[in-house]
Amino acid sequence: MSLGESERKAAIVFGGSRGIGAAIVKRLAQDGFQVALTYLSSPDRAQQLVEEIGALGGKSIAIRADSADAKEVDAAVTRTVETFGRLDVAVVNAGVLRIGPVDAVSIEDLDLSLSINVRGVFLAVQAAARQMADGGRIITIGSNTAIRTGSPGSSVYAMTKAAVAAMAKGVALDLAPRRITVNNIQPGPTETDMTSSMIDRLKDIVPLRRVGRPDEIAGLASYLAGPQSGYMTGSSLTIDGGYVL
Ligand SMILES: NC(=O)c1ccc[n+]([C@@H]2O[C@H](COP(=O)([O-])OP(=O)(O)OC[C@H]3O[C@@H](n4cnc5c(N)ncnc54)[C@H](OP(=O)(O)O)[C@@H]3O)[C@@H](O)[C@H]2O)c1
Repeated sequence: MSLGESERKAAIVFGGSRGIGAAIVKRLAQDGFQVALTYLSSPDRAQQLVEEIGALGGKSIAIRADSADAKEVDAAVTRTVETFGRLDVAVVNAGVLRIGPVDAVSIEDLDLSLSINVRGVFLAVQAAARQMADGGRIITIGSNTAIRTGSPGSSVYAMTKAAVAAMAKGVALDLAPRRITVNNIQPGPTETDMTSSMIDRLKDIVPLRRVGRPDEIAGLASYLAGPQSGYMTGSSLTIDGGYVL
């Protein structure tokens, strides 16, 4: 039985143009969601994704919205609700990786990391929570580096991802009365543009002797977006081939 548009649930994926975010957009569309995705510097890839989903009979829109800009983030949520008539799921995936030892990391890299990976995540969660239906789902994408940093040069990135795990717990308590669940996925090394220069080294340090695929992370997001995860909230779920063990 096919559902009418107003009956089909709607999701927004912040940072959905590439990598893990794009895999989540595709998976949620396959799961039957209408999906809005935000992008910043990859308009062509965002548009291509919208076309791919359309060709498979799904409905999606791409919205340019810098995760560092509170107004743009808020406007993206508003446009999603205006377009689809509802908001049921928000996935906050946009993130940056800046590596450098503590005595060399630049103020620019520190500020960008905090701006996108911490402040930007909070802004997106806040904007989504304000317009989301009761019983909705919020999913953040943290990192296993919140638990095990593992290599020098990652203090700034690890700090931002630990902040996301802590944020998920606090927001989960705030939104529990509305039955909105808030959970944080902590991927380990996953094959995307972000890790392309490190993949060979990363393979050797993961117990399962491989890196993850974006669709594997998307599978966990699909579970967290779905009805079976309704009793889970405030959790950080690590998916990393055993690296933190
Ligand atoms: N890959 C891994 O091994 C790994 C491991 C653990 C955690 N993670 C986390 O998983 C998430 C996705 O990582 P990825 O590997 O898929 O990264 P990626 O391939 O570099 O893609 C990053 C995504 O974030 C978006 N983005 C970045 N800055 C943005 C901004 N200011 N405003 C809006 N969108 C922005 C990008 O959009 P545009 O290109 O359009 O700007 C892109 O869609 C990140 O939070 C990352 O920290 C990744």
